[in-house]
Amino acid sequence: MDQRGSRSEVALERGAREVIAAPQRHACAGSSSISSRLWNHAFYWNCLSPRDGGKPSGKLAKAIEADFGSFDPFAIEFKTSAAGKFGSGWTWLVKRADGGLEIRNGDDADNPLRWSQTPLLTCGVWEHAYYIDYRNERGRYIEGFWQLTNWKFASRNLEAA
Ligand SMILES: [Fe+2]
Repeated sequence: MDQRGSRSEVALERGAREVIAAPQRHACAGSSSISSRLWNHAFYWNCLSPRDGGKPSGKLAKAIEADFGSFDPFAIEFKTSAAGKFGSGWTWLVKRADGGLEIRNGDDADNPLRWSQTPLLTCGVWEHAYYIDYRNERGRYIEGFWQLTNWKFASRNLEAA
């Protein structure tokens, strides 16, 4: 995942540099898509930690209990949402403007900041995120993600929201 991730980010960074160097050659939608893809990837790497994968604590745990009942139904909803995302994109845990938490899928390079929501956690479900290790078994990849979820990062995002 590291190698693929860095290759993917190198390509994205090259694209971003090209847009910055020659913006007139690129449509606005293209440059914003590249920026959003870079941002989503950087955020995603922060959502992974080899030493985490437990359960959230503190304010995040309380917010999850308030909006999903408890951690288990929340986990099922997040994994089901990621497994069911049609096509490329990301599954997000977001904080809405009204303060509530929500699980939401975004297409391609879309991003909660564009929905005026605060991203707390994401799982990338673009096929290249899992195909080499898991082939078409997206569910197994999501379970693997869940073992590495960086809840401290998600908690910090909620604290800062
Ligand atoms: Fe990617």
